[in-house]
Amino acid sequence: MQLGNVLVFGGTGMLAEATGWIAQHANHTIAFGRDAHKLARLTQKYEAGTKTLDYTDIGALRENIINAYKEHKEINMVVAWIHNTSPKAVSVIKDTLNQLQLHQEWTLVLIKGSSSRLSDIKETQEEKLPNCTVKEVRLGFKIEEQGSRWLTHGEISDGVIQAIRGIDKETIVGTLVPWHKRP
Ligand SMILES: NC(=O)c1ccc[n+]([C@@H]2O[C@H](COP(=O)([O-])OP(=O)(O)OC[C@H]3O[C@@H](n4cnc5c(N)ncnc54)[C@H](OP(=O)(O)O)[C@@H]3O)[C@@H](O)[C@H]2O)c1
Repeated sequence: MQLGNVLVFGGTGMLAEATGWIAQHANHTIAFGRDAHKLARLTQKYEAGTKTLDYTDIGALRENIINAYKEHKEINMVVAWIHNTSPKAVSVIKDTLNQLQLHQEWTLVLIKGSSSRLSDIKETQEEKLPNCTVKEVRLGFKIEEQGSRWLTHGEISDGVIQAIRGIDKETIVGTLVPWHKRP
């Protein structure tokens, strides 16, 4: 599988394994994050390209996307697990790339996970762009004999990889129902 040029936001923590898989299947990967140690670990372990960015700084977010586009000529995929500390980040990513590459097909993989609000997980990106395929990964929990538990890092990464590889617009990792049975 060839993913082309990929930008990853929020992929240096629990999602590091998926970012590593992406780096192995992409021409170029840039994983963005704030923590220099996590970025260095990603480069050492998976040879992933990394850049320092706080995505709450919307100007810096836009600038980094423009720079990545200038460097690689096209961006084929964006994988984003963005906290609600930066509510505008996803639309800035979409708008910026749309302006830069109006005639380029690209895929946006959005990861949604919250321990408290089901609406945050189920909410769908309303605005559709003609050249952008949006795939949403909803993180749930696991129900087992002894009770329920949150997903492991491995399960989260596997779910994201499955979403990237497949054609489904929605991937639910674990279960979201019954929501009151979450840990
Ligand atoms: N459903 C489940 O089973 C499950 C399991 C675990 C977690 N969750 C949920 O997943 C969410 C994320 O958890 P977590 O934060 O502990 O995940 P994490 O993967 O450990 O860290 C968040 C990722 O986002 C990046 N990030 C966060 N703020 C950033 C910013 N302002 N700028 C750039 N990068 C930023 C971090 O990079 P830096 O550290 O470099 O900033 C890191 O890569 C929580 O809401 C949690 O409830 C759900």
